[in-house]
Amino acid sequence: MGETEQITRVGLTIRQKEPVNLETPLDQVDSYLTPAELFYVRNHFKAPAIDRATYRLRVDGAVASPLSLTYDQLRAMPSETRVATLECAGNGRVFLVPQVRGAQWELGAIGNAEWTGVPLAALLERAGLRSDACEIVLEGADRGTPNERPLPPEPISYARSLPREKALCGDVLLAYAMNRRDLSLHHGYPVRAIVPGHYGMASVKWLTRIEAVQRPFRGYWQTTDYAYWARVDGKPVRHALGEMQLKSEIVRPRVFETLPPNEPSEIMGVAWAGETEVNRVTVSTDGGQTWSEATFLDPAQRYAWRRWTFDWLTPSAPGKYVLLSRATAADGSVQPEKHDPNFGTYVINHLLPIEVFVGS
Ligand code: MTE
Repeated sequence: MGETEQITRVGLTIRQKEPVNLETPLDQVDSYLTPAELFYVRNHFKAPAIDRATYRLRVDGAVASPLSLTYDQLRAMPSETRVATLECAGNGRVFLVPQVRGAQWELGAIGNAEWTGVPLAALLERAGLRSDACEIVLEGADRGTPNERPLPPEPISYARSLPREKALCGDVLLAYAMNRRDLSLHHGYPVRAIVPGHYGMASVKWLTRIEAVQRPFRGYWQTTDYAYWARVDGKPVRHALGEMQLKSEIVRPRVFETLPPNEPSEIMGVAWAGETEVNRVTVSTDGGQTWSEATFLDPAQRYAWRRWTFDWLTPSAPGKYVLLSRATAADGSVQPEKHDPNFGTYVINHLLPIEVFVGS
């Protein structure tokens, strides 16, 4: 199905009107690349309208020569294009029982797109990143008062840091195009970061400042929000969320869909991982008692999702059936059965039950 046809027949689901938060109806999007118009939107503040003519990208902090680049100067630098999946760290939150606060994302706070831009590493090299810089803070032009407590004493911008190694690895892009077209307002026009392998919160939109810092950044969006409890020497310590965790999800059939008995039915889904590759997906149609191999539609490509499919001959006995999918990665990790409470209202990568009915 062509991209245009998909766009005209499908829309997005509102999770919050203002700031704009929209979910992709994944069951209706068949393509490998998610069309930009159907790609989920996760905004914490009102999207800032930035004029390309006056746009500046500052690079400063622990660098030898601070930079202030115009949009055209950034566009004139050598660019790279790569496919990356972005998943919001709260994707699937509606599956948590009891219900938790936060946007009630179902399965569609995720998308896979082709991004074009300048590698962050190239810009840091040009600015002369100093050896004592341990992190790179990416800051967006949007500002406001967030809602998770403790609240900051004044309006803040959306800013997050990346460890030095990730910032320099060459994969992080300062992207100006999504699926070969200019970014739209809600996806970060005119320039955003794309941090492949990390949850979506790392890919700062409306990027206007890149600051190299000598001490770990402890900003709101990686301490109060988008953080989790790690264990260091047996003690819980607050860490910033980063790498996406291995996950697969079933996008078709939908929850509570009724399927005809004793007929072939296709179960479809997607699977992805952070810094590793998904190399196996198995499917259960009996609530986890037995598992069978799914077939991938896409090759393994680092940082990109793989769609998969499984042919199910529906049972002749009418009733409720629980469908599950489970991913395995190249590093040997397996999708967990239960949500890890240390991640709070984030990282919902456990096996998500899709209940369907067989009947006529
Ligand atoms: N960047 C800025 N400046 N402001 C934001 O609110 N949201 C983040 C990230 N970058 C955000 C941001 C979050 S939480 C996610 S999941 C992704 O953007 C979503 O990107 P998308 O809206 O293009 O899908």
